[in-house]
Amino acid sequence: MTRIVGVVSGKGGVGKTTLVSNLGVSMAQEGKKVAVIDANLSGANLGLQFGLISYPTSVHDVMRGNTTIGDAMYKHPSGVDIIPASLSIEDLDVEPRNIKREILDNLSDKDFVLIDCATGLDRETMVALEMCDEVLLVTHPELPTISDALRTKTIAKRYDKNIIGIVLNRVNRGDELKKENISAFFDLPVIGVIPEDHFVRKSIEAKNPIILEYPRHRVSREIKRITHYMLGKEYKHKEGLLDRILSFFRI
Ligand SMILES: Nc1ncnc2c1ncn2[C@@H]1O[C@H](COP(=O)(O)OP(=O)(O)O)[C@@H](O)[C@H]1O
Ligand SMILES: [Mg+2]
Repeated sequence: MTRIVGVVSGKGGVGKTTLVSNLGVSMAQEGKKVAVIDANLSGANLGLQFGLISYPTSVHDVMRGNTTIGDAMYKHPSGVDIIPASLSIEDLDVEPRNIKREILDNLSDKDFVLIDCATGLDRETMVALEMCDEVLLVTHPELPTISDALRTKTIAKRYDKNIIGIVLNRVNRGDELKKENISAFFDLPVIGVIPEDHFVRKSIEAKNPIILEYPRHRVSREIKRITHYMLGKEYKHKEGLLDRILSFFRI
């Protein structure tokens, strides 16, 4: 059965799109069939992280009923199927529409459909939430972002979504709020702690998810840990000498 997972947050810029692109590749590397959908209709950028810049059809056309989701899908060399949103400002006026039926009809061969959701509590976000069955909540380990994420958690619960857990992103050693505090605060497991690292930006600029660009990087390892958690598998990574050297040079 296809698992439709929405990646949500309270605030924008916390790392949802980066998580969706990397998690998609990581799941494909685990042999899963994966599609990623950009449901951030007014702030599309998921395709860009894969180097997908120009495309004739997008999720906007699917929402308008002009095309099927299968016709707005582009294959990345990693095996991930990308359903991008339009980058054109002409498309900003599209009425968000729940396309869950299309997902179920056209993407039933996928193990996972990952949805890069919009931020905020407006209709665009609600429509994205309606499409999925489960959600992953991404936040920074700082109070204002957490309090917004808590509101999103309440809404996801109201929509009856299964909340898989929290992903903490851009974590620094000196952060005051620790994983355990945040887990208790949300009453949810923290399934990944992704460090703040400039190699994330370097990979975005290279238009290649970090898990492909720097597979041994500590951010990539954390993505793999989250993937394993979602697949119900144990993640065993014994840090070797090379990892320690790379980590010393912050690579
Ligand atoms: N772990 C990280 N370390 C450093 N920078 C990051 C990290 N995660 C994301 N970023 C930066 O934050 C920006 C916003 O991330 P993005 O995934 O687009 O967030 P969202 O989709 O939630 O708006 C990215 O362009 C990237 O430069
Ligand atoms: Mg985004």
